[in-house]
Amino acid sequence: MSAQYRHWQLERAPDGVTWLRFDKAGSSTNTFSAQALGEFEQILERLGRERPKGLIIASAKSAGFIAGADIEEFTQIESGAEARRQVERGWTLFNRLADVSYPTLALIRGHCMGGGLEMSLACRYRIAVDEPGTRMALPEVMLGIVPAWGGMLRLPRTIGPAAALDLMLTGKSVNARKAKSLGLVDECVPVRVMENAAQMLVTSGREPRRLPLLQKLLNGPAKRIVADKARKQVAKKARREHYPAPYAIIDIWERFGGDALAVPADDPASLEAIFRSPTARNLIRVFFLQERLKGFGKESDFSAKRVHVIGAGVMGGDIAAWCALRGMTVTLQDQTAERIGPAIGRAGKLFARRLRSDKRAERFAMDRLIADPQGHGVRHADVIIEAIFEDLDVKRGLFADLEARARPDAILATNTSSLRIEDIAEGLQRPERLVGIHFFNPVAMLPPVEVVRGEGTDETVLRQALAFVRAIDKLPLPVESAPGFLVNAVLGPYMLEAMRCVDEGTPPEVVDRALVDFGMPMGPIELADTVGLDIAMAAGKALTGGAAATPPRRLAEQVSAGHLGRKSGRGFYTWDDGKAQKEPVSEVPPGLAERIIEPLLAATRRCVEAGVVADADLADAGVIFGTGFAPFTGGPMHYGAARGDAPPQPETDAP
Ligand code: NAI
Repeated sequence: MSAQYRHWQLERAPDGVTWLRFDKAGSSTNTFSAQALGEFEQILERLGRERPKGLIIASAKSAGFIAGADIEEFTQIESGAEARRQVERGWTLFNRLADVSYPTLALIRGHCMGGGLEMSLACRYRIAVDEPGTRMALPEVMLGIVPAWGGMLRLPRTIGPAAALDLMLTGKSVNARKAKSLGLVDECVPVRVMENAAQMLVTSGREPRRLPLLQKLLNGPAKRIVADKARKQVAKKARREHYPAPYAIIDIWERFGGDALAVPADDPASLEAIFRSPTARNLIRVFFLQERLKGFGKESDFSAKRVHVIGAGVMGGDIAAWCALRGMTVTLQDQTAERIGPAIGRAGKLFARRLRSDKRAERFAMDRLIADPQGHGVRHADVIIEAIFEDLDVKRGLFADLEARARPDAILATNTSSLRIEDIAEGLQRPERLVGIHFFNPVAMLPPVEVVRGEGTDETVLRQALAFVRAIDKLPLPVESAPGFLVNAVLGPYMLEAMRCVDEGTPPEVVDRALVDFGMPMGPIELADTVGLDIAMAAGKALTGGAAATPPRRLAEQVSAGHLGRKSGRGFYTWDDGKAQKEPVSEVPPGLAERIIEPLLAATRRCVEAGVVADADLADAGVIFGTGFAPFTGGPMHYGAARGDAPPQPETDAP
């Protein structure tokens, strides 16, 4: 019965219920390409004639339900009219699904994103399978677009407008249990009963869920209250000229009943306006850059299970905790057991935060993290990460000892920020074994990890290190051994320029405001205070080879007075309860942000030209994910190219 469809399996069960399983050809993940949607349309037509007792839509993939629209196809949209056609197709089709005379049900197991959730919302019933992989979201806003295939119409009707806007404006996902408590799904069931549960519910004749009266009012005559509140929330995070989509979502829901096609082309919430702004294209570009970084992890089948971390300080402690959270068995070594204790305490808090709803998983993560003051774990580890003080001789000595005790196939990695990999490797019998795996602080928050190739680092080791980084769910960024690698080499000159502005008399608040207005997540002065002024000072010295440039005056004064920023309660700002106390800013001088961004752009370009990263796209990826550089610009190199900078000129003798 199903042979005629490339992407769908259609099967009528003996009880008269029809099962439709999405199985996108040539792909491990289900996405709605134009072709897959076209077939779905034909299937609806056919079922209209056959009138099944019920229709259950499920996935034939082990990888999940439906990941959403095919983003590759978005990149081919070239005009506002095409964007409109693309929207119209899903909107009309899912309206048709919502209108069929027989009962319909989406059986959601695994990820159910964007268009996948919009299709589910058009069904009469939804069941979510209670598994960790089941996640539901409308993440369109993260790509600078809007959930126009019925999401803006049906999500508020299903779970109430405030909860719906919260999901649509943040793009965040919810698990099966949360979906049940929100009313997003009718049932949340374990995997073993899912098919039975689906069959029973679809033929139950049960009335679909109705919104409580208050929610109905808020989704009707009282929309204004919810819309105004949502606009205020969005304005705190994003400016309309940088990110038009979240504002458009609120407008389309409030003024156009969730129908993006009803918005006139000259309205700022129109599909044409969203398409005209470069933001969506740039955010889609950032999405693909992220996919490219993930791809580096696939070039080796290296699979690590045991990790040994040496140094339980700020970095080592958090690296160990992160690896344990991601399923590795981790031994954590330091000079004494007392030094390991605080790291284990921090790990407990991380696990509690991240595994909130699963006490068992929290306990298992804790069991996987083992204090190991004697370093017994070295002999068994697949990966050994050194994160001790930044001291060349001590690191060299440590690695010589590690090499003698570690398995010959274990990866030896250093988290150094400023020492040369080849210098640390000098004491090794096989220096080609050493690779840099450079995490950023705070480890749990920052996705990229630079994987540093020393002059002699073996290619296989490098690929294994990339695979390891991906396996702990970070974004591996391959870089060459050069001062500051990529991210710090780019951040340094930017923060330096910001501090020079402060030395010249511009208040820190004004500097920070200028850059936040530009689109940075945090101003550079607040960032320096957050990182720690001693660390900022040391990083500056390392980048300039410890010589030449004098450090910014205010920075040097603060450090010698022991004012180290957030951690000591005082730096450029006074810190109270983890918050910088700032004077209100009335005006930002024109050109200030551009002046401070310029050294960042120049440094990124230098890194590309010197071959620290393989190409301009990778530089953009590293700088966006590593520094938060305004994603709507598409990255510093892309930003430079868009304003007409000449393409970078690679040096002939790249390192
Ligand atoms: P930290 O001072 O917080 O921790 C270092 C720890 O190493 C201390 O607990 C110390 O007792 C231990 N240690 C020192 N020598 C040891 C030895 N021989 N055996 C066992 N343990 C030993 O230092 P932090 O900030 O965690 O830095 C560690 C490394 O990470 C450095 O190489 C640094 O450049 C790098 N890094 C630091 C970042 C940061 O923001 N703090 C960011 C990225 C890298």
